Amino acid sequence: MNVIELKQLTKTYRVYQKKEGLLASLGGLFQREYRDVNAVRGIDLTVAKGEFVAFLGPNGAGKTTTLKLLSGVINPTSGTAQVLGYVPWERKNAYRRRFALVMGQKNQLWWDLPANESYRLHQQIYRIEPAEFTRTLDELTGLLGVRELLRQPVRELSLGERMKMELIAALLHSPEVLFLDEPTIGLDVIAQHNVRQFLKQYQLERQTTILLTSHYMKDVAALCERVVVIAHGQIEYDGSLAGILDRFSGHKIVTLAFTENQMPPDLTPFGEILEVLPPKVKLRIDRNVVAEKLASLLSQHSVEDVSVEEPPLEEVIADVFSRATRSKEA
Ligand SMILES: Nc1ncnc2c1ncn2[C@@H]1O[C@H](COP(=O)(O)OP(=O)(O)O)[C@@H](O)[C@H]1O
Ligand SMILES: [Mg+2]
Repeated sequence: MNVIELKQLTKTYRVYQKKEGLLASLGGLFQREYRDVNAVRGIDLTVAKGEFVAFLGPNGAGKTTTLKLLSGVINPTSGTAQVLGYVPWERKNAYRRRFALVMGQKNQLWWDLPANESYRLHQQIYRIEPAEFTRTLDELTGLLGVRELLRQPVRELSLGERMKMELIAALLHSPEVLFLDEPTIGLDVIAQHNVRQFLKQYQLERQTTILLTSHYMKDVAALCERVVVIAHGQIEYDGSLAGILDRFSGHKIVTLAFTENQMPPDLTPFGEILEVLPPKVKLRIDRNVVAEKLASLLSQHSVEDVSVEEPPLEEVIADVFSRATRSKEA
């Protein structure tokens, strides 16, 4: 069964612009004073129960907008969405009790109160049974190692600790669907690691359906089997992480070790030279011609060792993003 189902989901923001100067404002009588921003442009997406999907894309691609639509924070311009059978922007209480949205750059917890007290409030809002509340809170604080921080005002906590508290707040009502928008942004390496490990274990145990946006490929590699890439409001790729390489990476990295003193003086006909550390050399070779270039290299030169690798995923994704950004500007 599909937990999330989007069809041609579209969101256009109308941005009103204030014109400068008197002449401009007179001109404004005759010209439109707004600009339409097509944040999400006809997205089709289905997510099955228990999937942990990474939602990737450059800044401004429409990720947050999509998660806000799915959480019913904003209304779409057109298209449909169903999450657990609910239309998110109808904002039914029954739906509210079954999903959660966590935004790394926004906090829901009361700044001056200890997290404990905010949690009590959540308990009432979501009508969580006392026994269930205590059990879940105990489990979550244990998993995240923050039990001793519950009585401390949230403003006194570090960013990483606060994020953990935010996650607990979002998970107290045991949502079946979780939208995570950059939950590890700005966290130090250790806190990032802890949050990542927590999400992995939590999802494994509960089979929660999760949509995660993150800029850190480590998060994605550790957590998600499926990756959806969005650029300028449209889905560019939907598949495995490794599949991104096949689809978007135009080259492979070939490392050759030549027999001592037999390194050819000119390797440029074979590919782009990335690194020379005699007797080793690293080349970037177009994917489609790797086999023939290697064959001619091996027939002409004395090579001791060869390895062919995919380029680093980070690099490929950064490249996909920058291409998407450029094509938008063009
Ligand atoms: N409230 C808003 N009003 C107008 N434009 C917005 C608003 N929120 C986002 N946008 C624009 O919509 C586009 C998509 O933004 P967003 O969904 O936040 O992207 P992402 O999360 O992928 O970085 C961007 O061009 C952004 O400037
Ligand atoms: Mg965003």
